[in-house]
Amino acid sequence: MRAARPRLALHTLALLALATPLAAQQAADALAPEGAGGAESASEFGPLSDAARAALETKAEGRPVEAEDWMIAAAHPLAVEAGAEVLRAGGSAADAMIAAQTVLGLVEPQSSGLGGGAFLVWYDAEEGAVTTLDGRETAPLDASPTYFQDDEGEPLEFYDAVVGGRSVGTPGTPALMQAAHDRWGTAEWSGLFDRAIALAEDGFIVSPRLATLVADDEDRLGRFGPTADYFYPDGAPLEAGATLTNADYAATLRALAEDGADAFYTGEIAADIVETVQGAEGNPGLLSDTDLALYEVIERPAVCVPYRAHEVCGMGPPSSGALTVGQILGTLDSFELSGEGPTSAETWRLVSDASRLAFADRGRYMADIDFVPMPLEGLVAGDYLKTRAEQIKGRDRALDTAEPGMPDWDHATLWGDDASIEFPSTSHISIVDAEGNALSMTTTIENGFGSRLFVRGFLLNNELTDFSFATHEDGRPIANRVEPGKRPRSSMAPTIVMQDGAPALVIGSPGGSRIIGYVAQGVMNVLDFGMDVQQAVAAPHALNRFGTTDLEAGTELEGLATPLSKMGFDTEVRDLNSGLHAIRVTESGLLGGADPRREGIAIGE
Ligand code: DON
Repeated sequence: MRAARPRLALHTLALLALATPLAAQQAADALAPEGAGGAESASEFGPLSDAARAALETKAEGRPVEAEDWMIAAAHPLAVEAGAEVLRAGGSAADAMIAAQTVLGLVEPQSSGLGGGAFLVWYDAEEGAVTTLDGRETAPLDASPTYFQDDEGEPLEFYDAVVGGRSVGTPGTPALMQAAHDRWGTAEWSGLFDRAIALAEDGFIVSPRLATLVADDEDRLGRFGPTADYFYPDGAPLEAGATLTNADYAATLRALAEDGADAFYTGEIAADIVETVQGAEGNPGLLSDTDLALYEVIERPAVCVPYRAHEVCGMGPPSSGALTVGQILGTLDSFELSGEGPTSAETWRLVSDASRLAFADRGRYMADIDFVPMPLEGLVAGDYLKTRAEQIKGRDRALDTAEPGMPDWDHATLWGDDASIEFPSTSHISIVDAEGNALSMTTTIENGFGSRLFVRGFLLNNELTDFSFATHEDGRPIANRVEPGKRPRSSMAPTIVMQDGAPALVIGSPGGSRIIGYVAQGVMNVLDFGMDVQQAVAAPHALNRFGTTDLEAGTELEGLATPLSKMGFDTEVRDLNSGLHAIRVTESGLLGGADPRREGIAIGE
């Protein structure tokens, strides 16, 4: 078995040929392929346990699931059942994650799986400390900064880069599962794959959501033979209610169960991945045996930012998640929001401009800290965030411009601004086990169905398109440009909110760069507005990623379009398809919430 070799971090863009970050964001919005899709009825998932059926009912009623000892919340009832089974038998949160992740890779293949990457935030009850594991994909050692440019040095069109081998980074999820188990597992490794293997061999019911996504993506998903054979059997898209088996996936899982993550990174599975990527017709990639064999999970210190007498802890670089969520909340900590409430225009003026300022810094400074120097501590230093808060204090209008700041670190202005973009898929798992350990993990293959390359029963990621396609901006290098072995900047923000040294809220979401707004708002909904955890994940969304303030269509926040426009904000009413899964930890027990915009549930006992 290839033991993960963790190490501590040593130190603590034409972007679709588009001219501005805002234009790139708007293009991303227009193309975003994955829509909303909560479950309509329990029968969509085939036979479910009583606990899962009850959880779906509780969610439909808008109430949190209550438990005393342990809880898991994730994006598909079958995955939650698999994790719950492990927790019920006394397994740890890390064990339950492996059971849930391997089922998610089967029943929600568009979002995450063995061919992708993930970030994991862990609260260790025995040590009373939070740490993180970085299982992000890496760029091939043969890749250069112009990897996503054509022969004339022009950035590729986004989907020309995504579909095929070029976008595929070395997957991190199998090694992350192994590393988490090595550290925190208590159940036997091989047994954690049983549920996913059984479902893959006996078949699972295709949900309406999966069927819709498959039908909507035929132009891309139908392009490669093995992918088309699985998702379009007999030439027609998979239908909701059909029973789908995946013998190749079962065989891959058996290899992992028997030989550990090594079975994935060396040998026949690795060889097939490399052949698939390098042989992808029309868009081959550079991923090699060496990239797979050298892959390492990295343990990194959590980034924690004070907010309302709590510490909001999450994933540092290469994710921009914890830093940007922390900057938004750390800036808002200078204001009292509870009196304003979650639907007031003044609340959203402050959140919108705090977010614009944070995203300006994100675009300039945030990338893989093992490759580019970053003012990591300076970006979330209390004094610095106070200077950001001063900019938006005492105004009744939007800032005219939101510029990157000068955090405490002197090489900062060397970087150009980045406008790389991210698209929907991705999944979030929150778990608290009976020992009091907490796990928050966001897991992804990037775009819906990733690179669309399917090998050994799973899809390969397109995570490398999270890099900036451009290398420079106004003659200055871009921090998030491609480099050999580097990890693309992420927005994933798996979060554990701590109070007095213990977890108070475990939360995270998919949503590309909107993840940052969803998570920041989820934390505010609990800490500022006193919502219960189900209300907090279900509440109407508003957010700003440096461009428009997006207001969730069909909700009362649509009404903010006029007042915010009068203040000078650009606004857009649109679907905001988060997938928040959260667990509130209180003195009297655990409360679980699952986003009504997706199919997930929470189960606990
Ligand atoms: O790492 C990231 O930030 C993106 N690749 C995540 C993609 C995502 O969340 C899509 N979500 N719906």
